Amino acid sequence: MNIPQPTRFGLPSDTGAKDFGLFLPVANGGWILSSTTPVIDGSYEYNRRAALLAEAIGLDFVMSMAKFRGYGGRTDHWRTSLDSTVLMSALAAQTSRVKIWTTFHTLLQNPAVAAKMIATLDQVSHGRAGLNVVPGAFKGEFAQMGAWPDNVNHDDRYELASEWLRAVKSLWTQPSTTQRGRYFNLEDCHSDPKPVQSPRPFIVAAGMSERGMRFAIEETDAIFIGGRDDDELRATSLRAKEMAHEAGRRLRTYAMLILVIEDSDAEAEATIARFRDGFDEEAFYGMMRSYGMIDAEIGRENAFTARARTGITAPHAAGSPETITRRMTELIEHCDLDGMMLIFPDYLDGLARFGATILPALHARFGQ
Ligand SMILES: Cc1cc2nc3c(=O)[nH]c(=O)nc-3n(C[C@H](O)[C@H](O)[C@H](O)COP(=O)(O)O)c2cc1C
Repeated sequence: MNIPQPTRFGLPSDTGAKDFGLFLPVANGGWILSSTTPVIDGSYEYNRRAALLAEAIGLDFVMSMAKFRGYGGRTDHWRTSLDSTVLMSALAAQTSRVKIWTTFHTLLQNPAVAAKMIATLDQVSHGRAGLNVVPGAFKGEFAQMGAWPDNVNHDDRYELASEWLRAVKSLWTQPSTTQRGRYFNLEDCHSDPKPVQSPRPFIVAAGMSERGMRFAIEETDAIFIGGRDDDELRATSLRAKEMAHEAGRRLRTYAMLILVIEDSDAEAEATIARFRDGFDEEAFYGMMRSYGMIDAEIGRENAFTARARTGITAPHAAGSPETITRRMTELIEHCDLDGMMLIFPDYLDGLARFGATILPALHARFGQ
């Protein structure tokens, strides 16, 4: 099959190598629902140190999520979270090479406001800005601010996101945009400055549903994917790429992974066991409710809730540097991934270890 060439964004994956990035800990508690993990306070200072370390060890991107409500529990998980774009603008000014990806909720921001904010971020970062575009999925986050339209269902929210993103792309590239839609109406709308990058900043999405995936295939450059196991992850990655090729596009696939790196596999298993001892079940329930589940449904687990019930809310790899290098290599190759976004229980210690003992081997294997 004639595979379309990807637009180049200055990423290793432009030329077939792999992108490695960091999911910044902008909310307290990180991605483990536990009281026995290292403390992640979600502060600017912690994120600043993590981003500088990510750049120093040679990661390709740092990304922050957009989050407006926490999950409660004794850890008060994600009670505090920094604004994604304000944070990334500050980090853009302090770094010089790593890509700076921010998240926007299409439910919350007018596309003309978003287009200008990201163009500004691109100027501050000298052409390193990227956009994670999310429709907004968790009712509690938006209902609390009167921004949850009950007549707009899950798939409609992706229609809204498509209209939104088409407007943003047009505003970035055209002198004037007139676009009439169901959700947004732009009339001779101007947006300057344009982004520094040509043709435009990198765009990624994270939809897991059929409709979410179609949104990425039609409108974005990459997608974060998940799966119950390696085979499901592989099937999703291959399907997303295949569908994009059929649509004449190239879509990169990324997985996210929590890394628990210790000197030996036994120590890493002990660390995981310690985290599980401190599992914050109440925060888990808060999380499930924020995903729209009612209490009666919690307990009828799917793969995602089953994972979250262990306290570790994203896929993880635990072990010695050699074990983790082997595991990441296997996942990337088996699932034909274009990269990974990494999470650490302790970002400062984890990044230092990853940079010293794992990333060089991955670069040697996959290029950079
Ligand atoms: C890596 C990753 C990052 C995400 N970032 C955010 C975010 O910052 N804010 C948010 O509300 N949702 C975020 N989501 C949720 C997704 O946008 C999406 O709604 C979710 O994966 C469910 O998929 P669906 O919308 O196709 O049903 C993220 C998901 C993943 C996997």
